[in-house]
Amino acid sequence: MSNSDIKDLSLAEGGRRRIDWAEREMPVLRQIRERFAKEKPLKGLRLSACLHVTTETANLARTLHEGGADLVLTASNPLSTQDDVAAALVSMYEIPTYAIKGEDKVTYFKHIRAALEHKPHMTMDDGADLVSSLFFIEMGRFDNLEPSLAAWARGLKDSERAELLKGVIGGTEETTTGVIRLKAMEADNVLKFPVIAVNDAQTKHFFDNRYGTGQSTVDGIIRATNVLLAGKVFVVSGYGWCGRGLASRARGMGALVVVTEVDPMKALEAVMDGYQVMPMMDAAKIGDIFCTVTGDINVIDEHHFAAMKDGAIVANSGHFNVEINIPSLRAMSVGDPSLVRPFVDQYLTKDGRKINILGEGRLINLASAEGHPASVMDMSFANQALAAEYMAKNADKLEKKVYSVPADIDNEIARLKLQAMGVKIDTLTAEQVKYLGSWEEGT
Ligand SMILES: NC(=O)c1ccc[n+]([C@@H]2O[C@H](COP(=O)([O-])OP(=O)(O)OC[C@H]3O[C@@H](n4cnc5c(N)ncnc54)[C@H](O)[C@@H]3O)[C@@H](O)[C@H]2O)c1
Repeated sequence: MSNSDIKDLSLAEGGRRRIDWAEREMPVLRQIRERFAKEKPLKGLRLSACLHVTTETANLARTLHEGGADLVLTASNPLSTQDDVAAALVSMYEIPTYAIKGEDKVTYFKHIRAALEHKPHMTMDDGADLVSSLFFIEMGRFDNLEPSLAAWARGLKDSERAELLKGVIGGTEETTTGVIRLKAMEADNVLKFPVIAVNDAQTKHFFDNRYGTGQSTVDGIIRATNVLLAGKVFVVSGYGWCGRGLASRARGMGALVVVTEVDPMKALEAVMDGYQVMPMMDAAKIGDIFCTVTGDINVIDEHHFAAMKDGAIVANSGHFNVEINIPSLRAMSVGDPSLVRPFVDQYLTKDGRKINILGEGRLINLASAEGHPASVMDMSFANQALAAEYMAKNADKLEKKVYSVPADIDNEIARLKLQAMGVKIDTLTAEQVKYLGSWEEGT
């Protein structure tokens, strides 16, 4: 395979302008890039990154490249690639990139294969598709692979398969779903190298998952449909970090927000935050717009579709496209769905209702909008860059486990972000330090 697969190189100049625009909102990552350019902490490391190919990721890729990494970038979702950004990465930043918006599953995994053939020392994942493919190949579990990737892997000699894994010192993971998969691998004793869970850094999920997903998911739904949110019943499934952000942003636009949950603590929090909380079966009957953000499967299922109103709009912003059971909707519909607007598939049910699925059930903030705004990705990707540096320096001391981002890195990113925003805060006085560390003083 040649050393890139993108849609159209002539889009590069537009991509470069948008990468620069995002860069202005990424001051923390910029500082890291400037230091990396001098110190080259990733020198000599082959790094395979499987991330959403957006303007913000381009700035991370530049940082890793400046830090000395020999980097290959592939898409972590078939619909999230920004083709102009991919073109700029290849032609202006000389970063081999394998990503085309709308690529089919075979192409998606052909691109993952390119990341594997790079024989990485380090992996960087968003959803764990790269590491899970690597482990399935090494374990000879070809039936778990996409068929074309399995055919390639079957053709390798045992020694060649072992070789793919041999040089890997560690990896990083960007999102909640990926971290859940990696922790399950650790529990099953199949995790083959240490991985840093970037998602678990406070400067990642407090801001990226909540404010980033909140705003950009509303943006994606509006860009796809142009519906007015004010006065609509907007059902948010999952009141975790992303769900909290989405519910508050939808309410801010005047929607009547209903939350569905399975965790009593989160459900209670949603009630106290002022939302209506109910089972999906009840919400299905009253919702105008639905959005899942759970990381779970079949959260909106056949019996929910059966109860929905004519014209319901259904989207997902969780990592994989399994949260909405689209095959069940297809089975209860007449013929194929019509593409009534870009990213809006309209299904006609056998009882005559129209139900609209956005972005094929893939994360809607990346499918029909541009993903998270750069200002929050500044912190998420500062974590990625510093986690890669930490892994390069410390991999030999780590076990085959999922690690959190070290607290000093997390705190330093918060400090740098405040500084860049021009916000000053107080520091503890000597008296306060002493008081907070003592137990003698009471009533
Ligand atoms: N769209 C994006 O850009 C983006 C950004 C960050 C994370 N994500 C993804 O979004 C998903 C959620 O991430 P998070 O950080 O909010 O996770 P989280 O663990 O904080 O929250 C998930 C919530 O969903 C609830 N849930 C699980 N099954 C449910 C069900 N059947 N019905 C209702 N609620 C259910 C859980 O109880 C939990 O409260 C993950 O897949 C994550 O990878 C997407």
